[in-house]
Amino acid sequence: MSLLDEITQLRQEAIERIKKSDSLDSINEVRVKFLGRKGLLTAILKQLKDLSPDEKKEVGAAANKCRTELEQEIILATESHSGVKEASDFDPTLPGTDPQIGKVHIINQVIEQICDTFRGMGFEIARGPHIETDYYNFESLNFPPDHPARDMQDTFFVEGGRLLRTHTTPVQVRELERTDPPVKIIVPGCCYRNEAISTRHHAAFYQVDGFLIDVGVTLADLKGALVAFCKNFFGEGLKLRFRPSFFPFTEPSAEVDISCFLCTGKGCQVCKYSGWLEILGCGMIDPNVLKATGHDPDKYSGYAFGMGVERPAMLKYKITDIRTFFNNDVRFLRQF
Ligand code: DAH
Repeated sequence: MSLLDEITQLRQEAIERIKKSDSLDSINEVRVKFLGRKGLLTAILKQLKDLSPDEKKEVGAAANKCRTELEQEIILATESHSGVKEASDFDPTLPGTDPQIGKVHIINQVIEQICDTFRGMGFEIARGPHIETDYYNFESLNFPPDHPARDMQDTFFVEGGRLLRTHTTPVQVRELERTDPPVKIIVPGCCYRNEAISTRHHAAFYQVDGFLIDVGVTLADLKGALVAFCKNFFGEGLKLRFRPSFFPFTEPSAEVDISCFLCTGKGCQVCKYSGWLEILGCGMIDPNVLKATGHDPDKYSGYAFGMGVERPAMLKYKITDIRTFFNNDVRFLRQF
């Protein structure tokens, strides 16, 4: 029998034995017998020296191929045997353990929905620090030091005269210092106020501010953008109402109400029988804000708006207590 035939036969025999092995020990025996230092394949290789160069090449290649193949088979057999051994106490009929799958927090989901609508209108996202200076939070936004508008935004003060920002509006100023119009920016983030915590108020809450500045921006642009947003977020068929209001950093200013979609305007507990729900504040950016950031109010105009996140989220998902957002009770959070 030629050496090549011997290799073929040896290979077949070894594979059969590996397949029949019923333990790691018997697999190892096969390995030693065929591939070991004194094994059968080694014995064949030792005879190579007596062959012609051409034969040497041919037989050597066949022997190496056979070795690689057998090693592979041995690895596979070893793996499946170890598996069976270790898993011998595994009962596939038992119910499995449910993995705890995390979710995006409902507040972040709502922020994402809001930002997504504005992103669709070409707005970019910007963020700013939660610990602000008096200048960015108030002064640059046209709140003079003793202005009563500050009373509505009492907050927590930290060392060095800094404070926890009461709204996301200061990011308008930070962005305007950094870039020149045209700008279209949306600013989501956490804000803080000195509030007595109740079902409707919390000392930490989320807002999304937005603003657009360019040449020739008018109140009609503001209205168009907000109507598009409200319909997209709350659903078509809504009515919007712009109610005159006051913010130091916009002039004129308005509060936007949507027709109560819970009672479709007939009057219910949620809308306090008015048929309307207050959703956001907005207005045309005050020339003083443009001036404070080095932009010419005779050249540029812009609109801005700011909304809370919890209230629209509560309305949309019929949540009655703002505190449930922050208690981190997974039974609540898992529902969204
Ligand atoms: N920053 C205001 C607040 O927290 C909300 C607001 C009103 C933001 C009008 C704006 C705006 O950008 O134009 O009460």
